[in-house]
This record gives sequence, C-alpha cells and structure tokens, in this order.
Amino acid sequence: MSLTRTALLRASKSQWLQQQVTHRSFTRRAVSKFMPGERVEDALAAAEGLAAQKLGAVFTQLGEDLTSLAEADGVRDHYLAVFDKIKARGIAGHVSVKPTQLGLNLSPEACARHLDTLAAKSAATGIFFWIDMEDSTYVDRTLDLYRGLRAKYDLVGIALQSYLRRTPRDLESLLPLKPRIRLVKGAYMEPGDVAYPVKRDVDNAFFDLGDEMLAHAAKGDLWPIFGTHDLNLVQRLANRAAERGVRDGAYEIHMLYGIRSAEQRELVASGRVVKTLISYGSAWFRWYMRRLAERPANILFVMKSVLSR
Ligand code: FDA
Repeated sequence: MSLTRTALLRASKSQWLQQQVTHRSFTRRAVSKFMPGERVEDALAAAEGLAAQKLGAVFTQLGEDLTSLAEADGVRDHYLAVFDKIKARGIAGHVSVKPTQLGLNLSPEACARHLDTLAAKSAATGIFFWIDMEDSTYVDRTLDLYRGLRAKYDLVGIALQSYLRRTPRDLESLLPLKPRIRLVKGAYMEPGDVAYPVKRDVDNAFFDLGDEMLAHAAKGDLWPIFGTHDLNLVQRLANRAAERGVRDGAYEIHMLYGIRSAEQRELVASGRVVKTLISYGSAWFRWYMRRLAERPANILFVMKSVLSR
C-alpha cells in the first residue's frame, strides 16, 4: 500500500481533522465533485439527469459507525422513505446501505431487524437492495446478515472485496444462495495478512473472482456486478462474459458519481448496463478521504479548489 494511501486512510479516522475540514467552504466545493448535494432530493435529481443518458442509479446516504441506536432507527426510516421516493419518481434505482449505519457495531440484532425491514420494503417496491462491505472486522457478521436476508428475499445483494485473501472462500460459500454480488476492490486500511498489499495482486484477484462469477452467471446461478472504474478490467471481464455466453444485460458495471463520467456513457453506448452510485448526506468526511486515498491525484483537485477561493 502506498504511503499516501496509508496516510489518507489513517486521516479518515481523525475526529480532529474531520472537525477542521467539514465546515470549510473549499472542502465542501471539492467534495461536490463526488456528490451532487447533501439532500436525497439532490441525488434523485442527479439520477433523473443520468437516466436521460441511459445510466441507472444506486442511492446511498453517507454515514457509518453510529454512536446510538436511535440514530440507526432514523437511518432505517430515512431509507424507507427513499424507497418510496424512488418509486414515486419512476427512477431505475437501487438502494445501498452500510450495516454499521444501521447499528451493526452497537447491536447486531437491531441491525438485522432494520435490514429485514428495508429488504421487505425493497420487495414491496421492487427496488433492489444492496449491502456494502465495510472493513474486514465486519465481514463475517455482514455475510451472516446477507445469508439471513437472502433466505427470505430475492432483490438483495452484497458487496465482496477482491483485496481480501478470504474472498474466494466467501464467494464459494455464498454460491448455494444464488447470490447477487457486487465485486469491488476494497477501500479500507487492512493488515497485509488480511488483504493483498500490492495493487497488482488486488487487480488480478478481481479478474479471477469476476471470471468465477461469470462462470456461475452463465448457468443462471449468480448475478454479477463489477463495481470498478478500472476500464482495463471491465474490458477483460466483458470479453470473458462474451466467451462464456453471458449476455450484456446479465451482468452490470457500477461506478461512482463524478468518476469516469464520460466513460460511463461510452460503456452504455457500447451496450453495457451501467449504474452510477450516488452518495449524499452530511457525514461525508471518512467516505471522502477514502475517495482521495483511491487516487491521491485528487488532492490536486482539492488544492485547486483552495486556490480558486
Ligand atoms: P482503481 O483504484 O484501480 O482505479 C482505476 C482508475 O479509476 C484510476 O486510474 C482512476 O483513473 C479511476 N479512479 C478510481 N478511483 C478514483 C477516485 N476516487 N477518483 C478519481 N478517479 C478514480 N469499497 C468497499 O470496500 N466496500 C464497498 O461496499 C464498496 N462499494 C462500491 C460500490 C461501487 C459502485 C464502486 C464503484 C466502488 C465501491 N467501493 C467499495 C470502492 C472500491 O472498493 C474501490 O476503492 C474504488 O472503486 C477504487 O477502485 P477501482 O476499482 O475503481 O480501481
């Protein structure tokens, strides 16, 4: 892992830094590159703009590691309303949540109840429901939560991270569920015995896991989503999909709002199904630091925002 990435991921946990930067107007301007606004209405309006370009949307409210269960109740109620808003506006959208945003670190039982309530709402509205994967200390609990939901609901999926050494085993263990899986590289700071420290290994693992997912998609046993901006990997996996006879609509590519926007449109034009994950909310500090860590060149963007004050 590069020193800059390590420093940025470490900084993402600093309360002091969070307090320093979140109210500065220049940081808020820089953050707007990655999110259309803090309100869900900003995200919904952005999704309508994307729909005109044949891009679907995935909505997520920022926030993680809550400090009280009352906050988790509020997050659940917020998402219940979001399902209704997506449906009312006729948007081709999904919803994605982090388990710690629903209290996983405070009460696994409460988190399971909230996820069940949201999955039931997803089933009632026909809107797909995703569970994000957080740092490696949460993986077992998150997989268990997904297994519980998948036993009851169809429209639920989970993210797996290719940087984790354990992920091939986790993928295999989920296969009997005919899962919906969003494969991502992984965004957290992890020890070397848990996650591959070298990016090339993470990329290779992504291709191998993606290919395995396509092999199961070809049998109708798995619905793969590739959550990456790595166009080389996207192309290689699209080629494998064609070789394995997986049609274009039987897998999707998901990217983040504000990243590779032109390429997202080009992929749609070439027949791929693409969705843009749109984040919103005021708790953006940790999430934003992870985006900087993914591409330290983004720091230049922040500096330019500072200079153009
Ligand atoms: P990689 O880092 O190799 O980047 C490829 C190219 O994409 C770069 O050269 C650059 O041009 C561009 N790029 C990538 N990140 C950029 C950025 N921040 N700013 C500007 N350009 C950038 N993680 C996780 O741990 N749990 C999760 O649940 C999710 N969920 C999720 C959903 C979706 C839809 C996406 C796209 C990503 C996630 N992630 C995630 C984040 C993921 O783990 C990973 O950190 C980022 O996607 C960056 O890795 P890439 O695969 O894009 O490739």
